[in-house]
Amino acid sequence: MDEKKLRIEKVVYGGMGLARLDGKVHLVPFTAPGDTVLADCREKKDYSICTVKSIIEPSPVRRKPICPHYTVCGGCHLQHLNEEAEIEIKEEFIQETLERIGGIKIQLKEFISGKFQHYRNKLEYSTFKGRPAYNGIDNRPFLMKECFIEDKNIMRVRKNIQGLRGVRKLILRTDDTKRVFAILKGNFNQRKNRRILNEAGVYYSISPDKKWNREEFLEFKTGGLNLVVSPLSFFQVNKEILERVIELLPELLSPDKKDIVVDAYSGVGTFGLSVSRYVKEVRLIEESKFGSDDSMHNIRRNYIENIKVFRGKVEENLDAFNGATKVVLDPPREGLNKNVIVALNEIKPERIVYISCNPSTLARDIKLLDGFKVAEVYGFNMFPYSYHVESIAILERG
Ligand SMILES: C[S@@+](CC[C@H](N)C(=O)[O-])C[C@H]1O[C@@H](n2cnc3c(N)ncnc32)[C@H](O)[C@@H]1O
Repeated sequence: MDEKKLRIEKVVYGGMGLARLDGKVHLVPFTAPGDTVLADCREKKDYSICTVKSIIEPSPVRRKPICPHYTVCGGCHLQHLNEEAEIEIKEEFIQETLERIGGIKIQLKEFISGKFQHYRNKLEYSTFKGRPAYNGIDNRPFLMKECFIEDKNIMRVRKNIQGLRGVRKLILRTDDTKRVFAILKGNFNQRKNRRILNEAGVYYSISPDKKWNREEFLEFKTGGLNLVVSPLSFFQVNKEILERVIELLPELLSPDKKDIVVDAYSGVGTFGLSVSRYVKEVRLIEESKFGSDDSMHNIRRNYIENIKVFRGKVEENLDAFNGATKVVLDPPREGLNKNVIVALNEIKPERIVYISCNPSTLARDIKLLDGFKVAEVYGFNMFPYSYHVESIAILERG
């Protein structure tokens, strides 16, 4: 371990500060661009990982983290930065990653940010002493007082929960009706834990392995749609930012009444349903049984007639792309399967709206797609305080 004086140049994707010294890169968590720090550095092959011992000169963009658990938790990587700096850093993450991995040099058209606190409608906990806990940086569970990203309904209920037994993982979700749903994993006495959760204010609990018999759904209103979401289906965690995406989508897709639009990785159908009124046909492709069932339900609930649902993996439903003029992609962090890229290269849609929660796989996939030019890129602060960022790239046939 070497002690080094380092000046932090920038914060890179992953949330670490980067400093260069003696021709080597040093990565230092919890630092800000412009900090000068004294750090203990552990050498790796091409770089070193350092821990701050003291801050010699703080950056002007630093501020006191609001969370009492900040350095223990590690969930929010950027809380020691002011909000303007966080936004700037995230803009840079997207632009830099697109250039480094995809060879795409582009300025963001816009970076859209909303409220920074209490935005998450879904949180995942372990348990400690019968209570919901987070796993800290050292991987050990700890009990938290405040969490500044938890939705306030969830926080209220979470604080009441005590006496759980055998629960390995607990997920709490909430919706527009402000009800709180729980998903439990582990080996436990269902009835006892369910009673504890109900008394704490949970409306409905489900264990995916030992399903209880009642069918209950979260409910969201957005983009003129009434959506139901099974407790086990994906839904965007930050509703305010989701709404900004839905508002922008018609402009980004540039829809036409002749268009056949594929919404691949469609979840409960949010994006496909929201553009259905502008186009001839929408095809949703979703792997999860819960998500695709919910999308069928949502199509009926919203009286939509021009949508087809393809259940299963996108890579196994490539015929859904036949004749598609426009495509919306919203894959998980791993990005697109190779066969999906091959299919898009053959089908040659006029336009792709690629929504991504991982700029690295977005950049990789754009590079593999033939014959498109990147017309615009937007950034969204879907996950404030963390280094994660959402982006949308608009690809047009060039
Ligand atoms: C990032 S979420 C997006 C969901 C939806 N677009 C939304 O915004 O609510 C990705 C979705 O893709 C689904 N999924 C993951 N891998 C898939 C695959 N190979 N084929 C089809 N769907 C997949 C997940 O179940 C999840 O619903």
